[in-house]
Amino acid sequence: MPIIAPSILSADFLHLGNEIEMIDKSVAEWIHIDVMDGMFVPNISFGLPIVKAVRKATKKLLDVHLMIVQPERYFGAFRDAGADILTFHYEASVHINRSIAEIHELGMKAGVVLNPHTPVNSLIDIIHDLDLVLIMSVNPGFGGQKFIENTYRRISDLKQMVYNTGKIILIEVDGGIDFSNAGKLLEAGADVLVVGNTVFSSRNPLETISKLSKIK
Ligand code: DX5
Ligand code: ZN
Repeated sequence: MPIIAPSILSADFLHLGNEIEMIDKSVAEWIHIDVMDGMFVPNISFGLPIVKAVRKATKKLLDVHLMIVQPERYFGAFRDAGADILTFHYEASVHINRSIAEIHELGMKAGVVLNPHTPVNSLIDIIHDLDLVLIMSVNPGFGGQKFIENTYRRISDLKQMVYNTGKIILIEVDGGIDFSNAGKLLEAGADVLVVGNTVFSSRNPLETISKLSKIK
């Protein structure tokens, strides 16, 4: 069964408590939290206080996706706010080995995110140290964008790379995921599906999460 990670970027911020309660009741195992700084991506979303507030309201794993420049400045702060999993962008990082080690020392799971243009093969010398890889299937910055089709091939290439390590390294996919592509993504080798718009704009988000988790 895939791990479903609802992205609260598409949630109703005025009623965030209700939205978290809904996810908490659902079969989703992770909550995906998109942090944007208006520098690495054109948009600004939210930061530490939201992570802290969500942490108080749920025991689900908090999967924090940092879309910020020099992400290493904030690893400790996000751990203190309650993050369980921290991912940062390959394109925003100069010393990935050091950053991964720091996240691990802080007691969190660590992952690298690849923008749609970054070759999967760029991870060949770091893959062994990662707990997960997040493949962007849109250009990061906004919810509700159109899924990029070459993601399937990128996932199967990455799956092979992960297989060669002999380790368990999760493949997470983020952006434009819906019922038309989720099955194919899982078939290609995805383990975790981040879903924003498809969940929060549906009439029954709880049911949508449940249906997504049953896709094979
Ligand atoms: C995009 C974010 C995504 C976003 C996904 O930059 O990283 O997590 O919330 O939203 P949907 O599923 O609507 O594309
Ligand atoms: Zn994200």
